[in-house]
Amino acid sequence: MKIKTSEFVISAVGPKQYPEDGFPEVALAGRSNVGKSSLINRLLLRKNLARTSSQPGKTQQLNYYRINDELFFVDVPGYGYARVSKTEREAWGKMIENYLRNREPLRLVILLVDLRHPPTALDVSMYEWLSHYDIPICVVGTKADKLSKNQLPKHAKQVRETLGMPKGQPLVLFSSETGMGRDELWSIIEQAAEL
Ligand code: GTP
Ligand code: MG
Repeated sequence: MKIKTSEFVISAVGPKQYPEDGFPEVALAGRSNVGKSSLINRLLLRKNLARTSSQPGKTQQLNYYRINDELFFVDVPGYGYARVSKTEREAWGKMIENYLRNREPLRLVILLVDLRHPPTALDVSMYEWLSHYDIPICVVGTKADKLSKNQLPKHAKQVRETLGMPKGQPLVLFSSETGMGRDELWSIIEQAAEL
């Protein structure tokens, strides 16, 4: 994918603010701090387009990014951040659930898990929930640079087993630091979005 332009569009707090251009959308989901914003920046070769933070829970709306006037990335608020109120958590939950279930242009959800650790119970519920609603998923294991080359297969296997991924479903080993997995992930995105 040749990236000609990439730009932030809107932090949407509800459906009225979702863009109406009709371009296919690819959503990034995963727990707080897993590396969603960093992955967007690496895919788009932009240093700081998506705001990253060492403080979890920073992304609280659906952040839309437009690429080449042909595609949107949607950065979904990270789940599993304890330090927000229950009411807040429920409000986001409803918005995200609605978006993921009903958004017509949505073509793919990239589910990020931290490759260093087994997927959490929340990761498993998210995976099962998406599968249950037949939402196309691509699982990405992030922070691969933190593991040695010979640790990677063992950790990949652990992700597959814990999530219960079917054999043919791809698991992309990714690093926003080194760019590992970038080409593979782009080709999955292009295929899903029919670009
Ligand atoms: P929220 O917006 O809070 O949900 O977090 P996020 O999922 O967008 O995570 P973000 O991209 O902000 O990254 C969180 C932290 O992890 C930052 O300190 C990043 O620098 C770091 N990080 C993200 N991806 C990688 C990676 O591939 N390798 C390494 N070593 N660090 C990473
Ligand atoms: Mg973020």
